[in-house]
Amino acid sequence: MRKTVFCATTALAIGSCQQAEQPLDAKDPIEVRVDSLLSQMTLEEKVGQLNMYNGTWDFTGPVPEQADAQEREDQIRSGGVSAMLNVLTPEAICAAQRMAVEESRLGIPMLFGYDVIHGYKTMMPIPLGQASSWDPTVAERANRVAAAEATSEGLSLAFGPMVDITPDARWGRIMEGAGEDPFLAARMAEGWVKGFQGTDLSERHSIAACAKHFAGYGFAEAGKEYNTTDMSDQTLLNVVLPPFRAAVDAGCAAIMNGFNDLNGVPVTANAYIQRTQLKEAWGFDGFVLSDFNSVPELVTHGYSPDMPEAGKAAFLAGSDMEMESRLYERHLLDQVKSGEVSEELIDDAVRRVLRIKFRLGLFENPYKYCEADGIEIMSESHLQEARELARESMVLLKNESATLPLQKEASIGVIGSLARSKDVPLGNWRAQAVENSAVSLLEGIRAAAGSKVEFAEGYRISSGRRSFIFDMEWADPSEKGFEEAIQVARRSDVVVMALGEDCYQTGEGRSQTDVGLKGDQLELFHAVRAVNPNVVVVLMNGRPLAIPDIQQHASAILESWHAGSQAGHAIADILFGDHNPSGKLPVSFPHHTGQEPLYYNHKKTGRPVTNDFDKGLVFWAHYSDAPVEALYPFGYGLSYSRFIYSDLEINDSILRSGADLEVRVRLTNDSKIAGQEVVQLYIRDPYGSLTRPVKELKAFQKIHLKAGESQLVSFRLSEEDLAYHWSRERFEAEPGRFELYIGGNSHEVLQTAFTFR
Ligand code: BGC
Repeated sequence: MRKTVFCATTALAIGSCQQAEQPLDAKDPIEVRVDSLLSQMTLEEKVGQLNMYNGTWDFTGPVPEQADAQEREDQIRSGGVSAMLNVLTPEAICAAQRMAVEESRLGIPMLFGYDVIHGYKTMMPIPLGQASSWDPTVAERANRVAAAEATSEGLSLAFGPMVDITPDARWGRIMEGAGEDPFLAARMAEGWVKGFQGTDLSERHSIAACAKHFAGYGFAEAGKEYNTTDMSDQTLLNVVLPPFRAAVDAGCAAIMNGFNDLNGVPVTANAYIQRTQLKEAWGFDGFVLSDFNSVPELVTHGYSPDMPEAGKAAFLAGSDMEMESRLYERHLLDQVKSGEVSEELIDDAVRRVLRIKFRLGLFENPYKYCEADGIEIMSESHLQEARELARESMVLLKNESATLPLQKEASIGVIGSLARSKDVPLGNWRAQAVENSAVSLLEGIRAAAGSKVEFAEGYRISSGRRSFIFDMEWADPSEKGFEEAIQVARRSDVVVMALGEDCYQTGEGRSQTDVGLKGDQLELFHAVRAVNPNVVVVLMNGRPLAIPDIQQHASAILESWHAGSQAGHAIADILFGDHNPSGKLPVSFPHHTGQEPLYYNHKKTGRPVTNDFDKGLVFWAHYSDAPVEALYPFGYGLSYSRFIYSDLEINDSILRSGADLEVRVRLTNDSKIAGQEVVQLYIRDPYGSLTRPVKELKAFQKIHLKAGESQLVSFRLSEEDLAYHWSRERFEAEPGRFELYIGGNSHEVLQTAFTFR
């Protein structure tokens, strides 16, 4: 028998392998191998497995002190580095892996992590866009492509999916997640994890997923990045945690915590969420990774008095691996020796890390991600996936008098600098996307419609956005631009106007106090409309926008988000009717930023707006200068087909504990075009021991119907669907009357009721 399994026989494995004292038999169950390896490790080597360090470039946060290249290499050789982030060429990754495997005493392979959020080089729509498909297979397909490309270039750990629920459009990272609803986000989380990890983590193109940011980060007060989060246990348990639970149940290998203070305990040091919930209650057996420098920031938060205490607090609370900062490296050893930290806890953390490395098959073949794999980056088939998934992610918000689809023969004026951008559609968190590699809207329209297409830039959105320094001037007003745009609009049958946001207006560190259109976009819209009222607006953005004027005056509005590499083709497919849109909003759009946080599943209050409000009475839960409801509600989205809901029925008026209720509704495609509709089921517990939201999504199905076709769509509801966390200790459904709603969005619904007992 070979003395060690750490020595791989691959083309790249050169030099001599290091020798473990005890052989590990690849046929043994992973847990046996983990324990056997652990028993051979020194305390120093164990602590080494808890360190993740940055490569020497591409930082995603402040770096207080960075090791130089020589120091880093020495650390790897001594077994002091478990994982690296932002090492970005296959050559660099494989060279570093060789150092760990062939030059450290035990030869434990390293993990290589990177922010693969919506694609690696082939960019998929931003996650908020993918969530608009209301189709977990879209998430899965997007991440399958991302995993293939990322693993092909040597990566083994993706810092995604981001499954933070956020009710606040001001928060810049809203683009990275699935929006405001825990049920939809949970289904997307499952799809994203499956896409990354495939059916078997040890396969060549499976990448370990790391769901983030655990937990509550999306509830940053006032939508301000990195701000404090303060919420009830009910919100935490019923709204924030479910997508993480879904990711864990889908087998997610790792969890990343975050930067936020949660109810007085920063999440990096929060034992309740990391140990009590994640590890104990949910049985999560992977590892928890801190966020970039979030461990030393415990001192800045005012939670820990000094760096050693910060490291100890994070570790004791369940942060197994430290990203970038060096407090575990510096202090854990002494803290174990002094008895402040038990070696059992260190063993538990190390086991978690090793388990994932074993599951990835890195001990059988540490160079698995270095081997040639036949994957073509940005291949035709990957780009085709990007185009199809982008089409599924777009939401038709308005289509007055069937303005869309457009005739390909019409003369079309394309207006707005976003329409020409080959870069903005790639979105923020774009991994290794090649700059300017997207198909622009203008290119997409030209490819589809031919010769009668004219373009005018009109407005410009700020550049300078790439640096860490903000350019607060978002637009560059130009009278010349206006004049050209107006002339083009005059000469055209129809105007397609791209409005929205630069891709760096959203993402980390990109919170805003105003979610309207920046610069003079709105002014240009009105100037264009004055000469040609036939204006189709294509929105490109990473957050819900406050666009009441556009809603009122545009003839049609298509929300395309930042749609990825094939954005222009995908948008054109919809504009010209080659694809029938079916996306639905995963977030509420406000009339005004001041309505934020705005979310459909809010509580009722004691003075909800009723019909009396229309009579001008003052004392209701409302604003006196803006509407109270959403401009576009959660779940909203049109199609070129016309869908009718009827005949809502339940098979019993009583749902008994332990039994099911069958709910049926008839969906009819009352149009001459085949299409897809997302049928949404919501419930409400109208009164109980604790007040409950006015609506909660509990199920949905995406139904395809031919022209004129009709189908009974059925759902099953059980006690589990009615249950919620009353407190940390209590998760159950309360007997009583429940209202049930079904419809094509959260606002327009058919309604019935049943009793649970
Ligand atoms: C972000 C994480 C990211 C990490 C590594 C942090 O600033 O919050 O989401 O994964 O950097 O790039």
